[in-house]
Amino acid sequence: MPDRPDAALQEKLNERLRFYEDLGLGPFYRDRGVAIRRIATSAAVAPETLSVAIEESTLRKAVPKLTPAVKTLVPEPAARLPTLPTATGLSLFEASDKILGDTLLKTREDLGECTRCKLHKTRNKIVFGDGSPKADLVFIGEGPGADEDAQGLPFVGRAGKLLTQMIEAMGLRRGDVYICNVVKCRPPENRQPEKDEVTACSPFLFRQLDVLKPKVIVCLGSTAAQTLLQTNRGISHFRGEWLDFRGYKMLATYHPAYLLRNPGAKGEVWKDLQKVMAELGLEVKKNKAK
Ligand code: URA
Repeated sequence: MPDRPDAALQEKLNERLRFYEDLGLGPFYRDRGVAIRRIATSAAVAPETLSVAIEESTLRKAVPKLTPAVKTLVPEPAARLPTLPTATGLSLFEASDKILGDTLLKTREDLGECTRCKLHKTRNKIVFGDGSPKADLVFIGEGPGADEDAQGLPFVGRAGKLLTQMIEAMGLRRGDVYICNVVKCRPPENRQPEKDEVTACSPFLFRQLDVLKPKVIVCLGSTAAQTLLQTNRGISHFRGEWLDFRGYKMLATYHPAYLLRNPGAKGEVWKDLQKVMAELGLEVKKNKAK
C-alpha cells in the first residue's frame, strides 16, 4: 500500500472534505475499532473468554459542529460516512488520515465544550488528559473526581498523589507519562460512568491513544480495562497480564483509589508495574511497595 495517495485521489479527497465542511462538519477521524486479545495467556482463564473482536466500526465523525439548520439534513453516522474504495486501495478516510493526520490538539478541539452526554450538566472543567505527547507509557483512569473537576487536570487528588508516587517509584517523572480517563467529565457523587457516557466519550480516548501510540497502556481499575477490552469481566480475571488493545500492549492493575482503601494490594500493583518497567527497559527495582 503506498504511503501517500496519488495527487488525483488527494484532490478528490480535499474536495470531499470541503463539501463536508460546507455542510458544517469539522475534521474527521477514523475509529479503527477494537480488537483485544491476551498476549500471554494463563491456564486460569481460557483464552477465548478474553478474546474480543469488535468489528471494524464504520467511520465516524468526531464532532459534528452542527447548526440547528443543518442538523436535520445530516443522516445517521453509518450512512453519513461511507467507506469509499479508491484506486490506491485506501478508503477515503484512511486516505484522509494520512493526509490530515491527527493530533492531541485536534482531538481536544473536536471535543470542544462537549455536551454529548449528561455529565456536561454537572461538570466544572473538562479533564482531557495531561502529560508528555511523546510518552511511551499511558495511564488510564475512570473519570475525574472533585479535585480534577475543579482543576481540569487528571489525578490531582489523593488517588493522584499515590499515582504520582507509583510513577516516581518506577524511575519516571509524572511529566514523562500521559494520564487520562475513560470519561472526561466528573460523574456526580463520583459514581461510575454509565454506559452511554462511556460510549460518548471513549472515541476521544481512542483518538488520544492512536495519536500517542504508547509502548504500554496501563488501565487503572476495571472501568478503564473493561472499556478497552469491551468486556464485563472483573479486573481480577486479567489483572497483571499482558493484553493487546489494537496492537498496543496493555496491562490492567488496581486503581490508586482502591489502594487507598486496600493498602494490602500495593504489592500486587508493584509487581504489575515492574512488568511494565521491564517492558519499557527501565531498571526493575525490588521492594518498592510501601
Ligand atoms: N480517579 C480517576 O479515575 N481519574 C482521575 O483523574 C482521578 C481520580
